[in-house]
Amino acid sequence: MKELNVNIQFHLHAYDELSSLDRELIDTARQATYRSYAPYSHFSVGAAARLMNGQIISGSNQENAAYPSGLCAERTTLFYANANHPDTAVETLAIAARNERGEFVDDSIAPCGACRQVMLETERRYGHPLRILLDGQKGICEVQKATDLLPLSFDASAME
Ligand code: THU
Repeated sequence: MKELNVNIQFHLHAYDELSSLDRELIDTARQATYRSYAPYSHFSVGAAARLMNGQIISGSNQENAAYPSGLCAERTTLFYANANHPDTAVETLAIAARNERGEFVDDSIAPCGACRQVMLETERRYGHPLRILLDGQKGICEVQKATDLLPLSFDASAME
């Protein structure tokens, strides 16, 4: 028997410790929560992607009465970025959320499995690490690359 260990690093930053570029991205994700359409969960998520050319794309969760038809903020944002800028890698994705009372969450939210899978594909597609910033009032969690959020993942190489 072999034992394999996965070592994943997360960094927790205070907002003021972030670079001005990262603060701008977090601010954009926070603003995007106000454009969320979440009449069912009342949980408003915003995301902001900074592309390698510095451009920022934002999006939010969009729900639907047919629940599975809705989409998370991360995928809304990444799909828009990739659909409109197919030749430009995403460098950092920031995610912010407000609860049903309209308050920004204390603890940063962890993206769902489907969003992690899409982040991973975006990272591999461009061959560039996709950095992730998870916003929370208690601190901002930084993950260096999408692969760190999805160990033992499935990707195109498994089909070769
Ligand atoms: N949601 C996101 O947009 N991103 C996440 O990382 C977690 C969950 C959305 C989906 C749904 O509209 C609402 O939050 C409640 O799950």
